[in-house]
Amino acid sequence: MDYQAVLEEVAAHARPYVRQGRVADYIPALERVSADRFGIAVADINGEVYGVGDWETPFSVQSISKTFSLALVMAQSHGGHDSIWRRVGREPSGTPFNSLVQLEAENGIPRNPFINAGALVVTDRLQTLTGDASTSMLHFLREESGNQDLAFDQAVADSEAEHGDRNAALAHFMAAFGNLENPVPSVIEHYFWQCSIEMSCRDLAVAGGFLARHGLRADGSRLLEAREAKRINAVMLTCGTYDAAGEFAYRVGLPAKSGVGGGIIAVIPGRCTLCVWSPGLDARGNSVAGAAALDHFTTLTGWSVF
Ligand code: DON
Repeated sequence: MDYQAVLEEVAAHARPYVRQGRVADYIPALERVSADRFGIAVADINGEVYGVGDWETPFSVQSISKTFSLALVMAQSHGGHDSIWRRVGREPSGTPFNSLVQLEAENGIPRNPFINAGALVVTDRLQTLTGDASTSMLHFLREESGNQDLAFDQAVADSEAEHGDRNAALAHFMAAFGNLENPVPSVIEHYFWQCSIEMSCRDLAVAGGFLARHGLRADGSRLLEAREAKRINAVMLTCGTYDAAGEFAYRVGLPAKSGVGGGIIAVIPGRCTLCVWSPGLDARGNSVAGAAALDHFTTLTGWSVF
């Protein structure tokens, strides 16, 4: 496969969609990004990386971090007695990423680990396991991406905390049901920090390589059992793009996780991990040009999981 040629063609296809969506403004610090950015990168399972456009420009990973927190918790639990799955479900929510409505009827157990409520539970568990959830994630991402310069964006984390009433409400509500192990202020602080990490398409495609390598890290050591990597990919497919997951699976046919920074990572198990970035979002919080690019990538290559 001539990845470079495919990416050039994908970028040309996606170009008209850039600027179509709206840059996230509910966290004021995210608004600073120019809407006309577009980049895409592919990292194959042997570590070769290809990219076009703004593929080396760092952006706010936001909810893409939820994939890595889940992987780190699963890596330390291996489905054992403290399985995270007793505290968070595996069903699509059909509701927006920051919705509160299902939590009361479902006794404080979030539908899945990729909506905010579920991600807060996962970060809570990572905090218990590591003593410093966000820093352990940053260190993991530096190692996996090979980029030691990765860092938190303090302005984004602060802005998120300042406008974080809804996430705080989700956390307090789950604490009332006994579904948090750590104090609410600590859980939401680590969640805001993990969302604020800045990475490029290159960094994210490389760091997500273990999902395409059936759980093997970049250095060949095992992070996850193959079945655990399969499970994360399955939940990405069904829940990774929120209340648009059905439409995304229909169009793209790959496990994927989006973030309101405009990034989307997508996995082709056994072949490669992709990351696309363009800040304009649709109403569900997914990058418009990013989804168009991934749609065209699977059309050109025939490489969906179906
Ligand atoms: O919880 C929040 O509001 C953000 N920090 C993360 C949200 C996000 O990326 C949702 N994704 N589309």
